[in-house]
Amino acid sequence: MSESKSPGSESAAHANDGPSGGVLIVDFGAQYCQLIARRVRELGVYSRITVPERALFTFEHMRPAAVILSGGPRSVYEHDAPNLDPAILQKGVPVLGICYGLQWLAQNTGGQVEPAQAGAEYGRTEMQVVDAEGFLAGCKPNGTVWMSHGDKVAKLGAGFTVLAKSAPCPFAVVADRSRGFYGLQFHPEVAHTEDGARMIQNFVLGVAKCRTDWNPGNIVDTKIAAVAALVGEDGEVVMGLSGGVDSSVAAVLIHRAIGTRLHCVFVDNGLLRAGEREGVEALFRDDYHMDLKVVDASDRFLSELHGVTDPEQKRKIIGRLFVEVFRHEAKGYRNARFLGQGTLYPDVIESVAAHGGATSTIKSHHNVGGLPKDLDMTLVEPLRDLFKDEARAIGRQLGLPSSLVDRQPFPGPGLAVRCLGEVNRDKLEPLRKADKIVREEVEAKGLQKGLWQYFAVYVPQKSVGVKGDARVYEDVCMLRLVSSQDAMTADWELLPAEVLKRISSRILNEVKGFSRVCLDISSKPPATIEWE
Ligand code: XMP
Repeated sequence: MSESKSPGSESAAHANDGPSGGVLIVDFGAQYCQLIARRVRELGVYSRITVPERALFTFEHMRPAAVILSGGPRSVYEHDAPNLDPAILQKGVPVLGICYGLQWLAQNTGGQVEPAQAGAEYGRTEMQVVDAEGFLAGCKPNGTVWMSHGDKVAKLGAGFTVLAKSAPCPFAVVADRSRGFYGLQFHPEVAHTEDGARMIQNFVLGVAKCRTDWNPGNIVDTKIAAVAALVGEDGEVVMGLSGGVDSSVAAVLIHRAIGTRLHCVFVDNGLLRAGEREGVEALFRDDYHMDLKVVDASDRFLSELHGVTDPEQKRKIIGRLFVEVFRHEAKGYRNARFLGQGTLYPDVIESVAAHGGATSTIKSHHNVGGLPKDLDMTLVEPLRDLFKDEARAIGRQLGLPSSLVDRQPFPGPGLAVRCLGEVNRDKLEPLRKADKIVREEVEAKGLQKGLWQYFAVYVPQKSVGVKGDARVYEDVCMLRLVSSQDAMTADWELLPAEVLKRISSRILNEVKGFSRVCLDISSKPPATIEWE
């Protein structure tokens, strides 16, 4: 999906069109581009990522107060290197170039870039501040910064001065203050750069004087107004509600905007956690008085999954069936011309190929975004420009309970990707019980706060055990406990021994089918969080 492919969502998502007072971030293929956007938003300033080819167009739409040019893996002097119309430098707004962004800025303002050879720097290095006025105000004189560059700026254009240097890099921080152009050879957005957040703050608030109106209260008001305007006086929206954070927050937001003209459909695919369906019914139907239809499609899903062992095949079947079931249900709402979705910003930007090609698909994540074009409905995606933590903040603002807003992510294909090999009721039932035990024990001690996800996996590997006086030959229940910021990387975690003991003994005693409980101590990468 590209930034512009869902016409219906544009007006709801781009509520910040017009003079936004925010920051436009041009993605030259940076590994850390989303981090830049987050750092800016943490300052209460709206930020938006765009690809170089669309930067000028987006600039006119958004009218930002500043531009940040990201890093990137290429060399600016390569003939097909990512490029940007230099007219962006004539717009009269401050520009901050990071790494490749600095090199692009130098090349387009009379400077020169060349391979660094001896000057290549990777990892931590020390920066010496030469001029601590303004941009570097409050930064340590000898702070640690995170470099990752094979090219260097060899010569600066007229008007630029040096604000900081490092041993191999004489132009670590440069500026042309009169034009508001700043450049960093290192990455201020990563945690390893000691005063990186301060530099971004000095640029965004000090130099560019961006507007600080990006907060949950304003976002909720803006989104509600945008949804109401998009759907109009008599439009109706149908949406799949999974009970996860994203679709729940989106549904409540849309409900606030159009009330009973929102129709939610919850598809029970037989791959859900224990209590999921009841929880969704209690919260949305009973508490929020939303129109909610529950469709039990578990037989259909499980029969089509019968005999299928390949994980990607499972995902494809589940994705297709979800669309079929949902599509069938949506037909029942004859006036619903709109389709609600809980799409988040990372779903949108991750699929934009600024790198000269899409990043490789590790797992084909299923979401409703795969709905066919001939569905002929306009998308309503109020979270389309929000990160997950922002969606959570919106949920809290809307009064959703912490048990929902702060809940761990659960994959679209559900327990199917935690039930290795063929998925069937014989495996799903013990897995569901074990998963419930893991959740109960972790949550009873409030330990979920330090974990990104905590769940059980069904590993169909028989091993010998003794239950009562009898020998059993049963499967393995694997515990997966991970911490993470964004699921891109993850660390395995331990729980206090007595909690692990309780989990293990409860699973072995209460659940038929497992003779052994094991703990997965693999980080991501190289392992992934889910087992399939
Ligand atoms: P992995 O296993 O790739 O997971 O480390 C990263 C995050 O994504 C979730 N996940 C999925 N979510 N559909 C989803 O909606 C999927 O097919 C899927 N696979 C993994 C996973 O739970 C973790 O939070």
